[in-house]
Parts: sequence; C-alpha cells; structure tokens
Amino acid sequence: MRQNEYILVTGGAGYIGSHTVVELIEDGKTPVIVDDFRNADLKVLSGIEKIVGQSVICHQIDVCDFQAMHAVFEQYSFTGIIHFAAYKAVGESVEEPLKYFDNNLNSLLVCLSLAEEFNVNNFLFSSSCTVYGEPVNSPVVTEESPVLEANSPYGATKQMCERILSDLTKSGSDIRVLNLRYFNPIGAHSSSLIGELPSGEPSNLLPYVTQTAFGILDQLTVYGNNYNTIDGTCVRDYIHVSDLANAHVKGLDWLTQQTGTLNEVINVGTGQGSSVLEIIHTFENVSNIQLNWKFGARRLGDVEQIYADVTKAKKMLNWSAQRTMEDAVRDAWNWEQKRRNETTDNS
Ligand code: WQD
Repeated sequence: MRQNEYILVTGGAGYIGSHTVVELIEDGKTPVIVDDFRNADLKVLSGIEKIVGQSVICHQIDVCDFQAMHAVFEQYSFTGIIHFAAYKAVGESVEEPLKYFDNNLNSLLVCLSLAEEFNVNNFLFSSSCTVYGEPVNSPVVTEESPVLEANSPYGATKQMCERILSDLTKSGSDIRVLNLRYFNPIGAHSSSLIGELPSGEPSNLLPYVTQTAFGILDQLTVYGNNYNTIDGTCVRDYIHVSDLANAHVKGLDWLTQQTGTLNEVINVGTGQGSSVLEIIHTFENVSNIQLNWKFGARRLGDVEQIYADVTKAKKMLNWSAQRTMEDAVRDAWNWEQKRRNETTDNS
C-alpha cells in the first residue's frame, strides 16, 4: 500500500479544485483541501464524497492566514501543492483591483513561504490563457507566445504570480514549478454531483446559457457579432473541466519525477476553437431547447479569438483532452437541471 501522498489543494472546494480533488483520489492520492468557502458551497464536499465513495479531508481556512496554514503544514507531510485559491472574475477585478491583488498575490506568497519552510518542492500553479492578452499573429497560442499587457487586474495577478514563481526558482530554491495555463473550463462531472456554482449572475458563457435555458435568467446576450471570426462572434478553447482536472494529476506526477529546480509552463486546452454561436447551437442540439438570446454590444476586455496549441501537454505530460465540447455542454446542462430540481425538491 503506497504511503499517503498528501497533496495540498488550496481552493479545492471551487469549480476546478473540486473536480481535481476527485481525479486525485481516483488516482490513489490523498488531497487535503484548504478553502474558506467564500466562493464555494459546503455541499461540494458531500458531492465529492459520493463520487469517490470515501471521506475527504478539508480545512476551512483563509489561505492568506499564515498561522492557520502553518498548522496545516505541520499536520501533513505534503508531497505536492496545487494552488487554485484566487478570485477569478474578470469584470469584478476591474471594479475591485485591490481585492484581487491582495488575495491572489498574498495567498500565493503564504503557500510559497510554507512550501520552502517545510520542503514541499512540487508546486503546481493554476494560471490562465488570460496572460496572453490579445494574440497578435495567430489566435493559436503556444507557451512561447508573447505574454502581453493583461486586459484586467485578474489577468495581471496571474502574470505577477507567474513572475513570482519564476524569480523564486531562479533564486536557487528547491521548489519545482509547473504553471498550467487554462483556457475556458466548462461542464461538470458526468455524475452531476459536482459542477460550476457561480455566485450571483454568471459572467461566464456556459452557466449563463444553462441558467437562461432553465428559466432563471431571461435572455442571453451575445457580446458582439462583428469580430473577424468564422461567424462574427468570439472564439475560445472550451475544455471539459474533468479533462482539465486530469491534467493536474498528470502534471503533478510529472513534477514529482523531476529533479533539481525548474519552472515550466503548459497550455491546457483542447486545441480547438469554438465560437459563441457554436456553443449556443451545440447546446440547442444537445438539450433540444430553443435558447432565448440576442446580439448585443461587445464586452470590454474580450479577446477576439484565442485557442491553445497543445503539443507540449501531449509531449511532456502524455495528456490530451478526451471529452468533446458536446460532452461538456451536455454535462453542464445535466448539472444545471439536477441542482435546480434538487433545490425545488428541498424548498
Ligand atoms: C467567453 C465568450 C464572451 C457571457 C474568462 C477568463 C478566463 C477564465 C474563463 C478564469 C466571450 C461571450 C459570455 C455572456 C457572451 N476564467 N459571452 N455572453 O472571458 O473567455 O474567459 O473566463 O480562469 O481566465 O478570462 O470567458 O465565458 O466570460 O466568455 O457573449 O453572457 O462568451 O463575450 O466571447 P472568457 P467567458
């Protein structure tokens, strides 16, 4: 029996964090969630436990609370850290930049200080394609594509965190770093026991689509139809959240096999671009529902089109997305219906 491989998962009760916790447990590892549930629901824990059929370790702590985090590091001999805990709403970051810089930077700094103190040398960071800004020559970005001026304070915090990690590894620290740059995570676990739980009105496309279809929201507005794309609407690389979660397991395994210091960056997407209209049409086909939508003005800060070159993920991690965009849209819709019907049943 393999000795417990304790993995610290900060923000592990969040959307991507919870799906990653499932994948870690199914891979035989022991994740330790640290989350203060400011952006998550305690019900997520029971959802994870129903999926994996065992209890999950969770400490309800603010990751920025150094003392509380120090006690967690004293309790477990972590073999690795996956750092998700951060605010991630692009629009909100424009309105409240200090909140984003304070939380997103300090949570990382606390984790890194403790990783050094306790010699936890495998560090996986949740980064984002937002760091690329508006791609210049081609919508397909590789890890060597230029990191341009961030379009939002949220994107700026991701760039700053990558810089902190790069400078730390250059300083001779023993910490090995893997930055995973996510594209657009969508969908939910196929069991519909966990999924996306946007707080308030969603800003992301797919939860807005499913809430409109369910009748919670009145109408979806498609932000802009005069972009220089296949149908005039923005193009993104939509990846099933469970595929994204599995990339973390593969990334951690890869990190653990390395020696010496390193700082790597890997794009995590499907390598395919899909427009907003393609998402809407896919949803209508999958759900057999005519969605109520209209065209509206462009949204400030939106990138025209971006999707991933995923060669490096395949080569380095032997990982590629296995689920289709249809799978993700179907799982998102199943999750929306299940959680809403349960709410109605319990009310
Ligand atoms: C996708 C497309 C919108 C809502 C952001 C972050 C990224 C990651 C994912 C954290 C755009 C259009 C959306 C709506 C619409 N987050 N849209 N009507 O902005 O690509 O990425 O979320 O890691 O880092 O930057 O995702 O889902 O908000 O938008 O037309 O009601 O859908 O204009 O073209 P985005 P999104």
